[in-house]
Amino acid sequence: MPIGSITRGTTGTNRLRRVDRWIAELSVFRRTADPLVVDLGYGASATTTLELHQRLSRVHPRVLVVGLEIDPARVTLAALSARDGVRFAHGGFEVPLPGGRSATVIRALNVLRQYDESEVLAAWHLMVSRLDPGGVLVEGTCNEVGRVASWVDVTAEGPRSLTVSLRLADLERPSVVAERLPKVLIHRNVPGERVHTFLVDLDRHWQFNAALSVYGPSQRWIATAQGLVHDGWPVQGGRSRWKLGELTVHWDAVAPQGFQW
Ligand SMILES: C[S@@+](CC[C@H](N)C(=O)[O-])C[C@H]1O[C@@H](n2cnc3c(N)ncnc32)[C@H](O)[C@@H]1O
Repeated sequence: MPIGSITRGTTGTNRLRRVDRWIAELSVFRRTADPLVVDLGYGASATTTLELHQRLSRVHPRVLVVGLEIDPARVTLAALSARDGVRFAHGGFEVPLPGGRSATVIRALNVLRQYDESEVLAAWHLMVSRLDPGGVLVEGTCNEVGRVASWVDVTAEGPRSLTVSLRLADLERPSVVAERLPKVLIHRNVPGERVHTFLVDLDRHWQFNAALSVYGPSQRWIATAQGLVHDGWPVQGGRSRWKLGELTVHWDAVAPQGFQW
């Protein structure tokens, strides 16, 4: 029996573009000769799995993308869209793959959102046990149209970082992402938790740099990221990522109180 439960299948065209762009840059994906990328919990249609393949095959033409779904009816439907480099199969957090292969990357977006917080760690452990050495699980949440997104990247050694990715045009406050944090953090946006302090500081720097909007929202976001670095936040990446509305911070800086891998 696949491990997990069938949940709402809400999905949408272009919804996961921000996380796909980020996955395309992962060094493990780029350096693997025959990468196998799993889209776990693709939902009511094959759309986001096909888009993932389309985006990743531009970088790595030999990529194989396997869409896994726990709802057999959704697998039957999606299988009609199988094509070169894209397959669909029935499965859950145990990540069954052809020939017992392991995965280079597992993307699980908007899946754990519908589970209980207490179930996250076991699901993460199970999924990362199915990764190649150096492989990465990318687990997160976004809004319906993909303009507000966040995810955690997890390896066999545990979570590495939290990334937030926002459409900057008309962005009032970056803390809108609070409603779309990965399950492990969504209930932790309260005083005393590090992710709360992080979002407060993010908003503060965004407000402080408001005048830079005249040069475009990307300049304002870059200055926001630089302000966080100046304050000592372990922000990763540089201008090329920040200008996209992305910001990645080391996991330890935002991990829930008492979190243990
Ligand atoms: C909200 S949809 C997300 C669809 C797509 N990933 C997206 O972000 O647009 C969540 C899907 O995950 C599936 N799901 C839930 N738990 C799962 C599990 N353990 N393994 C595989 N699929 C799962 C549900 O059946 C549902 O179709």
